[in-house]
Amino acid sequence: MSATDIEDPNRRDFLYIATGMAGVVGAGAVAWPFIDQMRPDASTLALSTVEVDVSSLTPGMSLTAKWRGKPVFIRNRTADEIEAAKAVKLDELKDPLARNANLASDAPANDLDRTAGEGKENWLVMVGVCTHLGCIPLGQQGDFGGWFCPCHGSHYDTAGRVRKGPAPENMAVPVFEFVSDTKIRIG
Ligand code: FES
Repeated sequence: MSATDIEDPNRRDFLYIATGMAGVVGAGAVAWPFIDQMRPDASTLALSTVEVDVSSLTPGMSLTAKWRGKPVFIRNRTADEIEAAKAVKLDELKDPLARNANLASDAPANDLDRTAGEGKENWLVMVGVCTHLGCIPLGQQGDFGGWFCPCHGSHYDTAGRVRKGPAPENMAVPVFEFVSDTKIRIG
């Protein structure tokens, strides 16, 4: 085997890896890194709660909190948004599960079970990461008036449920609760 024979495969390997890296860097411009895959230990997770003051959010306003390295969308939904989400039947949903960490894992994705619950169904709190490949969807856009992920075209409705595109699941609702009328604790 000549020196060239040995070098060629190495060069191919290098080029392949370099191309792969460029892909990762390119995607980084729009993708939120999956920091949770680093698996922090239990003591770190226990401390990882954030309290968010939502008193300034009138209906139709949103904010994005940061929790465990991820964006969390908090939206005070309008009456129209609630009505639109309630009108959707479960069999119209791509993902029929609520994906709400505060409920049983088989809870259905009806509008109420996606929200802060009875009397607070105007409040939507969810991890703002597209369930396809992790981009951050844009709010109040797309075919269903909810969120739109421009990376590969996933559309979410006003309850954060995926309705169209490659995303397999509804956006995840994290563990959270109202600790006062105007403050939400996430985690
Ligand atoms: S990452 Fe959102 S559609 Fe692909």
